[in-house]
Amino acid sequence: MTESTWDSLWFGCSFWTGQKDNLVIENGAIAVSKGRIAWLGHYNDLPSRHISSKTKMNNLNNGWLLPGFIDCHTHMVYSGHRVNDFIARTQGLTYEQQNFGDTGIKVTQNLTSNASFDELYKESMLRAKSSIAEGVLTAEIKSGYGIDFSTERKQLQVARKLEDDLGRDLSWRVIKTYLALHALPAEYNNKRQDFVNQAVSHLQDLYDENLVDRVDAFCDSIGFNYEEILPFFNKAKELSLSIGLHTDQLSHQDGIKLASLLKINSVEHLEYMPPEQAFDLKEAGIVAVLLPQAYYYLQQVQKPPVKALREAEVGMAVATDVNPGSAPGASLQLARNMACLLFDLTPEEALLGTTSYAATALGLSEECGSLKVGLSADFVHWPINQVELLVSSISPLKPNLMVFKGNTLLNI
Ligand code: NIG
Ligand code: FE
Repeated sequence: MTESTWDSLWFGCSFWTGQKDNLVIENGAIAVSKGRIAWLGHYNDLPSRHISSKTKMNNLNNGWLLPGFIDCHTHMVYSGHRVNDFIARTQGLTYEQQNFGDTGIKVTQNLTSNASFDELYKESMLRAKSSIAEGVLTAEIKSGYGIDFSTERKQLQVARKLEDDLGRDLSWRVIKTYLALHALPAEYNNKRQDFVNQAVSHLQDLYDENLVDRVDAFCDSIGFNYEEILPFFNKAKELSLSIGLHTDQLSHQDGIKLASLLKINSVEHLEYMPPEQAFDLKEAGIVAVLLPQAYYYLQQVQKPPVKALREAEVGMAVATDVNPGSAPGASLQLARNMACLLFDLTPEEALLGTTSYAATALGLSEECGSLKVGLSADFVHWPINQVELLVSSISPLKPNLMVFKGNTLLNI
């Protein structure tokens, strides 16, 4: 790749690479060939033999260039809202207490199941567009709101159509996650084991239809337990899918034990994770995904053990968790800010958490998430003079331009 002529060259600004050992390049230059990063370094070190009259030269005139952001944990395909949950919370009810009447996850299960494909697509499109507008070029999207399997499939089909349509007109990569074990639908109340068994066979069906890249489960007292999740994750391993797990969000569970046993990609939420388990995560190479919007919105008090995670050198990612119940907001900019002010991350950790560690959490570190030779040419140019503005602001900033797989998008 390095011996061919470059398709485009970008220079004239500061670079924040997402690679810890070479994080900032003042006066950087980045070359693109066939949609991949062909060269990266200081402008003065550019090897000119790859530049021809066909190479498109782009002087960015100051500002900062960063990898496209990655929102590695979202439930953005859903219908309706859960304003009654919010009202109940203002009256003192906790999230766990809201699993009855016109509140709780089952409200979204019913609304999402009843919505037509087109309605669901339209509602989700708004969230997707607002995310892309703040420089998010890769998003993970979960199912998990079906009262039946056909709704789960519909959610993943919507996610695929969003990627196809937005990927064509804008620039977007989607990781489709089958969150089969999220909330037991009411009709399975007396048939719990049947539901768990079916998740395994449905996974094969979705895989055959090319509708799934990753799986997830909710390991909690109002979700599913170790024994129920194990066969589902074993099946995902057999299919070589990436695996994430909601665990220790509302109470301490066996999720990290399960995650370490299977060496899955990521564990997520973690408010009730005991600090000593950070070593298990390090040992198994698992990323900790922090979701500060959900912590904030559910008015939680106990925080994830960030100090222990940092000391054990566990990679920490940050995501929005956008969903109608615990985090109705798609702004990754706000999530980065909250990660610092609520969970004590540094601005650098928050940026790494929404770029390179988010890619690792999804199993995409060889594809995107940092400015590195060989990766997809996904980057965003920001009209800012200090990179930490991408953490300090609580409303999204507007990029100057975005480049996705080497193609430029100017009018965002
Ligand atoms: O990540 N905790 C489980 N699932 C989601 C919320 C789902 C919902 O309340 O609709 C979460 O917080
Ligand atoms: Fe979630």
